[in-house]
Amino acid sequence: MHDDIAGADVLIIGAGLAGMTAALSLPPQLHITLLSKGRAEECASAWAQGGIAAVLDAGDSLEAHVQDTLTAGAGLCDEAAVRRILAQGPAAIAWLQDHEIPFTTQADGSLHLTREGGHGARRIVHAADRTGLAVHQVLLQACRRRSNISLLEHCRALELLQDENRQCVGAVVQAADGSRLQLYAGHTILATGGMGRIYPFTTNPAGATGDGLAMAWRAGCALRDLEFMQFHPTALQLDDKAAGLVSEALRGEGALLRLPAADGQPGERFMPRHDPRAELAPRDIVARAIYAEMQERKLSHVLLDITHQSRAWLEQHFPGVMALCAAHGIDIARQPIPVAPCAHYACGGIEAEVDGTTRVAGLYAIGEVARTGLHGANRLASNSLLECVVMGRAAAQRIAARPGTARPGIARLQCNPDRDCGAANTEGRLAALQQLMHQQVGIVRSDQGLAQAAEQLALWRDQWRPAEPALRNQLEVCSLMVAAALQRRTSVGAHCNRDRPLPQAA
Ligand code: FAD
Ligand code: SIN
Repeated sequence: MHDDIAGADVLIIGAGLAGMTAALSLPPQLHITLLSKGRAEECASAWAQGGIAAVLDAGDSLEAHVQDTLTAGAGLCDEAAVRRILAQGPAAIAWLQDHEIPFTTQADGSLHLTREGGHGARRIVHAADRTGLAVHQVLLQACRRRSNISLLEHCRALELLQDENRQCVGAVVQAADGSRLQLYAGHTILATGGMGRIYPFTTNPAGATGDGLAMAWRAGCALRDLEFMQFHPTALQLDDKAAGLVSEALRGEGALLRLPAADGQPGERFMPRHDPRAELAPRDIVARAIYAEMQERKLSHVLLDITHQSRAWLEQHFPGVMALCAAHGIDIARQPIPVAPCAHYACGGIEAEVDGTTRVAGLYAIGEVARTGLHGANRLASNSLLECVVMGRAAAQRIAARPGTARPGIARLQCNPDRDCGAANTEGRLAALQQLMHQQVGIVRSDQGLAQAAEQLALWRDQWRPAEPALRNQLEVCSLMVAAALQRRTSVGAHCNRDRPLPQAA
């Protein structure tokens, strides 16, 4: 290992939508180091399908968006944060349009708005069903063009650096060649995304291992609402495995969920039996309904049917989902899509203000890794990309108002990364961890299952020392999630414990 000392005004850990928005919104005279763990394109932002929620239609209102968000969040949102973030919707879209994102438009040139579960109106701005890719490509090019932004790919943050007052002063990172750097910065932003990879079946990319959460926890941040892991109702399900996301926007455009009949063809439509909003109920309700049907009937999947739309219309609106399914021999214009729920989004995270400030001085958290209170117990579809842009811009504004760089002479390592680099049987351990989470901390949990998970995790924390950094982080966030789930005394939103029934709907 060799240690180099480098400095930046702002270190941004994570080059998804949140991190890149912050980088592009900071004053050009500040030197910014932007890290991504793998290639910059490998992030949830680039994979996003449905779109970005914002009130833009004359028949819609901010109040309606607020109420839909509070309803989906099952009473646990922070209403002030909800209002603050959603009010910024039109400005966030305008900022993206200034970057010339190729959003889907209507014949008159205005933005086409689609709809998703839990939304009472059409308010989802999108680029067909590859919204994330369109946004990410354009912003990545913009970041590469900026001379004040140094993008370091394949560079993984291992630990935050703190001075003697616990102020964050940068991070220890590991480059692709295995060398270690201490990157010092006046301000450090965690934009590391989610942790879906703690489950075996997830829509999330490989980097979503909860690194930011674990680093922030070790540095003294508060984490909140970790028990609210959101399961997306409709991942393409083949050979008992999730093979990619099938956007909720399909249901927004009329796709119906049906049970498979004996001949494999679409049978009974079941969502109306579970909720009056049927296929467009909030995500936790639809995911649980599908799970219940699958359990009761011992099914590996249910069917999502959009064959009422013409091929030409589907090619225009859902080219990504069409291509994904076609690659597996499914023609969605003629055939229903086999789907099942899988782990998708961390509603909880590092407790942060809308401008990303955390309880550790010098450290900000933005995007999916943060918990602002926007999502409560269950995120409303397409509110996440919006939150990334709003928080990225707000964090940049806050830093621009206090640019004073506090690059320290001395920084102390929170751990010795060498000590933590055991790699023995990492893959086997990771698979065991994911199975435990799937079985005991999935869509429906129980008191006994959670207690067993806590016990097993404590054992592994002891036995697996030293662990490879990503595994150590995953073990840590799993333990924290299980502890949060055990503390939650009622079922609410995305946390469903069969021993603590959900309150009856009014
Ligand atoms: P990400 O985009 O996940 O970026 C995280 C970054 O952090 C990456 O660059 C990664 O390499 C880096 N990183 C992680 N750990 C480290 C480390 N230790 N060191 C260095 N770098 C690190 N939301 C919506 O609102 N609308 C949608 O349509 C939508 N569709 C989705 C579809 C899919 C398939 C998925 C998975 C999610 C979807 N979501 C959607 C959710 C949304 O995409 C994410 O919540 C959002 O993109 C998160 O952005 P982010 O910038 O916080 O993190
Ligand atoms: C989707 O397109 O279904 C994903 C939307 C989201 O996660 O917000």
